[in-house]
Amino acid sequence: MSIAIMCSGGDAPGMNPAIKRFVDYVYLKGKKPYFIYNGLEGLIDNSIKLAEHKDVSGILHKGGAIIGSSRSKRFYEKSYRQKAYKNLKRYDINSLVVLGGDGSFRAMDVFNKEFDIDFMGIPTTIDNDIAHNDYCLGVDTALNVIRDATDKIRDTASTFKRGFVIEIMGRECGYLCAASAISCGAELCLIPEVETDLELAEKILKKEIEEGRKYILCFVAEGTKKSDFMVEWISERLGFETRKSVLGYIQRGGNPTVYDRLMAFEYVVKAVNSLCNKTHLNSVVTYQNGSFSYCSIDKIANDKYELSHNISDMLNYIG
Ligand code: F6P
Repeated sequence: MSIAIMCSGGDAPGMNPAIKRFVDYVYLKGKKPYFIYNGLEGLIDNSIKLAEHKDVSGILHKGGAIIGSSRSKRFYEKSYRQKAYKNLKRYDINSLVVLGGDGSFRAMDVFNKEFDIDFMGIPTTIDNDIAHNDYCLGVDTALNVIRDATDKIRDTASTFKRGFVIEIMGRECGYLCAASAISCGAELCLIPEVETDLELAEKILKKEIEEGRKYILCFVAEGTKKSDFMVEWISERLGFETRKSVLGYIQRGGNPTVYDRLMAFEYVVKAVNSLCNKTHLNSVVTYQNGSFSYCSIDKIANDKYELSHNISDMLNYIG
């Protein structure tokens, strides 16, 4: 039996520890591990190779993914999916582990319905926006990157008595922004899922300013598209000279944290076990309420992620 691993969509820290564990564990199970390079694009272009232990030595601590990743428009076309299937058959690969987000799982849902390839998904995206799943690989590292950057921005904000709008990634999902705002002690936070009561925030913050508050940190999720609006708002309503800092792609990089390494190992072992034992096939390994489970690819692909109430409730107390 041959099992391949592929990264798809936006890369996230945790991919390399997962790739390493995959190779070591598949050999341990007496099977052959294959790499598919550059995601779905590489699958179409036959960028496939038998993995060796030496390929994965010294990669555990690295961000990114040594096998690359991509977003593929060609995979939407049946003729390219047919090509991808033929490539897998050349190497006798009948099982696939995919590290990716909901877009990648939707693609695999279609592929899996058309061809006899068993699939297991591992939620991997800093956006943390997979339905029926609390934790995606890469999120802890991204949160720590944001915390580190915010600590530095706070140094200049407090010295210069300024407002700062910090724009956070996450596509349509506000998890990364909200969790960062809470853990970094921001005064304001705007995410797509929750309406912020700016009138109330203004009242509270004006009082704090009267009592001596010297700076304002405001976190804005990219999905709200309100960063520039908040720069104006803080300047006009609160009277602070205000700057914007878009953290951008540094949020996707960095050495995976201990938590992401451990989670990567667990996710991979569960995915490979499923493929070897033919249990929970064609599903995504999920992590909910502190334990691992499986969710059908169909459900994951079609249901929408919801922000946990713990996070949205906590947002009411900031400011
Ligand atoms: O999905 C991860 C992510 O980094 C999002 O947070 C962001 O909106 C998007 O990818 C950026 O996409 P791209 O890599 O195509 O620029």
